[in-house]
Amino acid sequence: MPTAPLMSLNGRIVPYEQCTVHAFSGVVKYGAAVFEGLRGYWNPDRGDMYVFRLREHLERLRYGMRILRLDPVFDLDFMERSLIAMIRANGLRETVHLRMIAYLDGDDELAATGPVGLVCGAVPRPRGRAVEEGVHIAVSTYARIADNALPPRVKATANYVNNRAAELEARRNQYDGVLMLTAQGKVSEGSGACFFMVRNGAVHTPDVSSDILESITRDTAIELVRRKLGLPVHERTIDRHEVYAADEAFWCGSGYEIQPILSVDRLALGDGRPGAVTRAVQKAYFDVVEGRVEDYPAWRSAVYANA
Ligand SMILES: Cc1ncc(COP(=O)(O)O)c(C=O)c1O
Repeated sequence: MPTAPLMSLNGRIVPYEQCTVHAFSGVVKYGAAVFEGLRGYWNPDRGDMYVFRLREHLERLRYGMRILRLDPVFDLDFMERSLIAMIRANGLRETVHLRMIAYLDGDDELAATGPVGLVCGAVPRPRGRAVEEGVHIAVSTYARIADNALPPRVKATANYVNNRAAELEARRNQYDGVLMLTAQGKVSEGSGACFFMVRNGAVHTPDVSSDILESITRDTAIELVRRKLGLPVHERTIDRHEVYAADEAFWCGSGYEIQPILSVDRLALGDGRPGAVTRAVQKAYFDVVEGRVEDYPAWRSAVYANA
């Protein structure tokens, strides 16, 4: 689906075609940028859109800018206003995927820290088929980038050279997705999602030192599994061969939402169908993000209520 026709560039609403950077800007030459992927959920009963965990996404964007040493020229309120104004300008009344990018502009040298640009755009994106049907994935031959080389815990654009290589490899081999391992061979994450598995009634996910993104959906899923499902969640180092023995597994991410993983390297997990815990996590997640339950109100920023 195409990007909505109006975007935000440094706080100004501009047509999609005018939202451009120079081919010699720092972001093109050096990959010096950091981004966020969020979702805005349309709630037809309330006639409003809820951006999910907006503040946490903006805080991670600022944290990413700090790690990349981009000048901290945008405060959280400016970034929030830019995003909300772009959604309203487009009059979007459907579920969307939102992207914000803070990037190094200007034709300067490697160590430049500014000028910094901020761009926001939206793509209408309903729930994907994989959420219902599940996916078949492979373990990648590419190791996940290590924290002392590139910062996996933030969404630095340059990180995604690694993710893209792994994803392309998986697609070449007719898999739906890919699970990357750390350089030490421990389970890390997917190309655009964090990994959870269920084994013997407990839920397990790689800890944040497993070269994963500090994922906001991962944090959400941990909270919902503990509070709503009443199951233990263990954040820990996970070995490859434990994954093959899992009863269930799922991806989580703002874009992916909660997707059942049916097999890994062609070994079926459980009975090869989406498991009961995964289905329960999905229900709890969609109830909260779409605003069909009252709890966690701070996680939902209404777009039109205060327009
Ligand atoms: C590499 C990677 N891991 C995990 C995630 C999930 O992160 P979040 O839940 O913050 O969207 C993403 C999604 O953007 C990602 O790109």
